Amino acid sequence: MVGKVLLTGGAGYIGSHTFVALQDAGYDPVILDDFSNAKKSVLDRIKLICQRSEIECHQVDVRDSDAIFEILNQGGFVAAVHFAAKKAVGESVEKPLDYIDINCTGLLSLLKAMERAEVFNLVFSSSATVYGDQEIIPIPETATRSYASPYAFTKLMGEQILEQVGDADPRWSFGTLRYFNPAGAHASGMIGEDPADIPNNLMPYIAKVATGEFEHLSVFGDTYNTHDGTGVRDYIHVMDLADAHVKSLKTLQKNSISHAINIGTGTGYSVLDMLAAYGRAVGKTLPHKIAPRRDGDVDTLLGEVEKAEEVIGFKTRYDLDEICASSWHWINTGAFQAAKEDNS
Ligand code: UFG
Repeated sequence: MVGKVLLTGGAGYIGSHTFVALQDAGYDPVILDDFSNAKKSVLDRIKLICQRSEIECHQVDVRDSDAIFEILNQGGFVAAVHFAAKKAVGESVEKPLDYIDINCTGLLSLLKAMERAEVFNLVFSSSATVYGDQEIIPIPETATRSYASPYAFTKLMGEQILEQVGDADPRWSFGTLRYFNPAGAHASGMIGEDPADIPNNLMPYIAKVATGEFEHLSVFGDTYNTHDGTGVRDYIHVMDLADAHVKSLKTLQKNSISHAINIGTGTGYSVLDMLAAYGRAVGKTLPHKIAPRRDGDVDTLLGEVEKAEEVIGFKTRYDLDEICASSWHWINTGAFQAAKEDNS
């Protein structure tokens, strides 16, 4: 083991996959999660994948800085990866205070605990949402940042907090990863995306159309300026995204220089492309209806990806069909059903 890594939000969708990738790379991940949007059974499923009898997991609110300090102060930690946050754009418009509290206060609480425990490497979950509405596609990391929702505001503020702290104190190194659209699941089918409510995002919604839980996909607009009129995004396999965290962390440990980079594939697919690809994985055509545009959506969201390769040596390995096949495998292994059952 090359050291412990604290994963805040480590029981969630991206956190659980990153746990596996970190363990594969020789790290010893430790989970901190309040289980507000994750299920306890995910721990058993991670254990199965990682062939471990135990996982260190602390049920803690990320705003409880003293509790985080107690964990870090046990010693052996080389870094933290900060996933714990709220992430639904629409909900953030209704509850801005919750978003600012959990996302910004949570980050401050973690940073204070890390400083007390003298752990100075942090990989931060940011989002392409910090680019707001950009005219230049693909978006370079140097693009002006802005925000169009309280959620985006909290991610931008998080990035700026890290910049201020890093400028003031050279002991810190930050890896800021601006995710594009994560999708897919671990190849075992034991972990995957399992939203607690009706999904806001495209992929989990399509999955529920494929299982028959929903009758059809509502395609939000078909008059965008794209090849088929529907919105184009960059969907990245969650195991590629997990690997980006490992590479970001290794880079911070090697050169102690902070970085802020896009994490995507650089290739865009439309809503209809995604539906067709998922249909190929399932072996049937999935029904859809054209619906009105969703407020705040843009035609195309794609980032430049060269900096990720240059700075942390990251390149994606999985294509769209692999993303859809892995998602469908997760839905069908029974793990999905088990995850649902532990709600009861
Ligand atoms: N879409 C539909 N029907 C649906 C859901 C989505 O047509 O039921 C369309 C959207 O209009 C959009 C595309 O599918 O064109 C992708 O939508 P998602 O909601 O899956 O993802 P977004 O690109 O809107 O947003 C995601 C995250 C944000 C993050 C952003 C950054 O949800 O948190 O990526 O790229 F900020």
